[in-house]
Amino acid sequence: MSFEAGFRGNQATEEYVTIQDGPFAGATTKVIANLRQRLEDWYDGQSSEDRVMEMFSPGHAENDLVEGVGSNLCSGSGIDQFVEEIKADARDRGRVDHAQKAARANRDADWKVKLLRRHFESTDDIGSDQKVASLHFPSLQRQITDFEDVRRGINGTDLTEITPAIRQRVNNGILEYIFLRRRGNFLVPPRRYRAVPTPRPES
Ligand code: HEM
Repeated sequence: MSFEAGFRGNQATEEYVTIQDGPFAGATTKVIANLRQRLEDWYDGQSSEDRVMEMFSPGHAENDLVEGVGSNLCSGSGIDQFVEEIKADARDRGRVDHAQKAARANRDADWKVKLLRRHFESTDDIGSDQKVASLHFPSLQRQITDFEDVRRGINGTDLTEITPAIRQRVNNGILEYIFLRRRGNFLVPPRRYRAVPTPRPES
């Protein structure tokens, strides 16, 4: 949806998402989601400035922080400086934005990032023979509740209470354009406990 995603500075480390102790020490949890996208509305219905605003934050658009697909951002989206402003943005502008909402729930008490995400675009529409623009979205985190907290943050329910201009799917980041089709939650054991074939390159 127009922009690079997964900047290093906005991702958890592998160590951070690894379960540290207990019977599952060394494992991690994985959420895999498949989301349909309404790209015509995303591209035709608004300007590129609107898209920056809906994906990152109003501050990103106002300060011209995102050039093109955002390659200039290099190692981090710079969203941290706009997280605190989310309620003021909701009140003053009647809109809030995707990365801004996600980031506020995606930091621990030491301001470390909790989720290790990947995005890849596709036209798969799992379970149907249609070709539908979609995103496969795997996310690793120490516990599934970390994912749930971030996803709840993206819902922005608290922000709909600040102004009637923000509704579940209106002026609420990219929720107007993305629709979950499937989601699965998994425990990923350490490699030594996985049943995979032993490589035999000589044969
Ligand atoms: C089609 C769907 C989606 C698209 C195109 C998309 C795209 C993006 C982009 C461009 C960014 C900003 C750059 C970055 O930090 O990677 C971002 C941030 C993020 N997105 Fe999404 N995203 C989608 C769905 C989701 C969903 C379903 C989640 C659920 C957890 C999510 C979680 C996040 C998080 C945690 C961040 C980083 C915020 C931070 O800095 O902590 N995204 N996304």
